Amino acid sequence: MAKKDTARVVVLHGPNLNLLGQREPAVYGATTLAQINRSLKETAKTLGLTIEIAQSNSEGGLIDRIHRAQSAAGILINPGAYTHTSVALADALRAVSVPTVEVHLSNLYRRESFRHQSLTGAVSVGVISGFGPSSYLLGLRALSELIQKTHG
Ligand code: DQA
Repeated sequence: MAKKDTARVVVLHGPNLNLLGQREPAVYGATTLAQINRSLKETAKTLGLTIEIAQSNSEGGLIDRIHRAQSAAGILINPGAYTHTSVALADALRAVSVPTVEVHLSNLYRRESFRHQSLTGAVSVGVISGFGPSSYLLGLRALSELIQKTHG
């Protein structure tokens, strides 16, 4: 396995998140993915982390990215609707054993019951849900603390 890069975090956005800003604004707000990514980069800089950000609408695309994240110190992921359905995505996270923090803009538990189950959350260190774009920044901070504790 490739040597760990203890400063590298991979951020993955799942399906339909490319449409943030125009997609169901009453649920997801008006912030675009580009704006979220900009804030993530700024926060990463203050935390001394380098981040690589990708978005994919396909399960396979996300799985390939997870495989390529094996040498990273952490993964921050919003798997979108695959959260609730994808055994394959959960298996990929399990396979690479890179500490993962899952985030959601909306509070899954205030929504339809099919969103209450998270297959990927079950293989993540923790889940942050319901704080809008701040969920990502809180998730990055949580991951940073975790990395600090593990790698000093
Ligand atoms: C989401 C919640 C999911 O249930 C939904 O399918 C999404 C976005 C969120 O960030 O709140 O696409 O992951």
